[in-house]
Amino acid sequence: MLQGARLHEMKVFEWLLTYHPYTSLLSCQMSVPWILPLSCNSDLCGCCFSHIVLFTADTLCSPSCPQPIILILLDIPPMLPVLDGVVMELQDCALPLLREVIPTDKVEVGFKDLDAAILVGSMPRKEGMERKDLLKANVAIFKTQGAALDKYAKKTVKVLVVGNPANTNCLIASKSAPSIPKENFSCLTRLDHNRACSQVAMRCSVSADNVKNVIIWGNHSSTQYPDVHHAKVNLHGSEVAAYEAVKDDNWLRGDFISTVQQRGAAVIKARKLSSAMSAAKAICDHMRDIWFGTKENKTWKIVDGLPINDFSRAKMDATASELVEERDTALDFLSQ
Ligand code: LMR
Repeated sequence: MLQGARLHEMKVFEWLLTYHPYTSLLSCQMSVPWILPLSCNSDLCGCCFSHIVLFTADTLCSPSCPQPIILILLDIPPMLPVLDGVVMELQDCALPLLREVIPTDKVEVGFKDLDAAILVGSMPRKEGMERKDLLKANVAIFKTQGAALDKYAKKTVKVLVVGNPANTNCLIASKSAPSIPKENFSCLTRLDHNRACSQVAMRCSVSADNVKNVIIWGNHSSTQYPDVHHAKVNLHGSEVAAYEAVKDDNWLRGDFISTVQQRGAAVIKARKLSSAMSAAKAICDHMRDIWFGTKENKTWKIVDGLPINDFSRAKMDATASELVEERDTALDFLSQ
């Protein structure tokens, strides 16, 4: 795909409060600033920040995705000395296509002419906090970021929202950026997808790249529905349906789903910190696929006419109703 294409620098803005990716290389004059907001106040630790920066820079600069990048890191003023350290480390990584790293605390610099924005940070849930308090704080954050995207970023910018509650934060950012097509906004459920692929792969004793067409429906929360009814597993060179490959319907309809739904909480329980490396990897997978397109299509589209059985329908309805409730609460705050 890339041979013969003239490569422009891709400005990537990483803001410590948000995240996201997408588009076809050929239609883009990429100066893609990735927005990677990372701050001590966010629910991402410094380790996650470093992982994300490295993964994003390294993935997009990999030989299979030769996209030059200008990486913009936006954070609050007290964090600028920390960002200087991140800049030094990025320089020390000697990434061949990372053309420039710009640390800044200025929104007009951070969001200017962005091609891709990765909105990482959000208000984490703290002890004694109700879900509504969390939504209220995040509506304020993502309203501001959406408005900044609207004002300064390219209209083609691809926005990935990572900060939780990611789906609802993404909606708020999109609604606050009316001049940017809503199709350009997405939130991170690739982590759930990767978790699901990996669980199925381990069960079948194959590597994760042998599992495809896994779907995550709904909210990035414990109501999400990892669906493998349309998934295929490559077993010794032949593709078979996931249910046939796994040969354990009870597991696929039980522990598999709850393991993926609860994985984020399990990581937090074990590490005493939110997922970092796997989240960073998922962000890179997501942004790379949105930006370059999937291997077959080089773009994305909605798949119509998928058969949905009663089991799946019930799970999809449950997570959809949680999303609707979150949306309604958030939109109430947005209108205040
Ligand atoms: C994850 O899925 O690992 C995270 O979204 C969990 C969290 O609440 O930070």
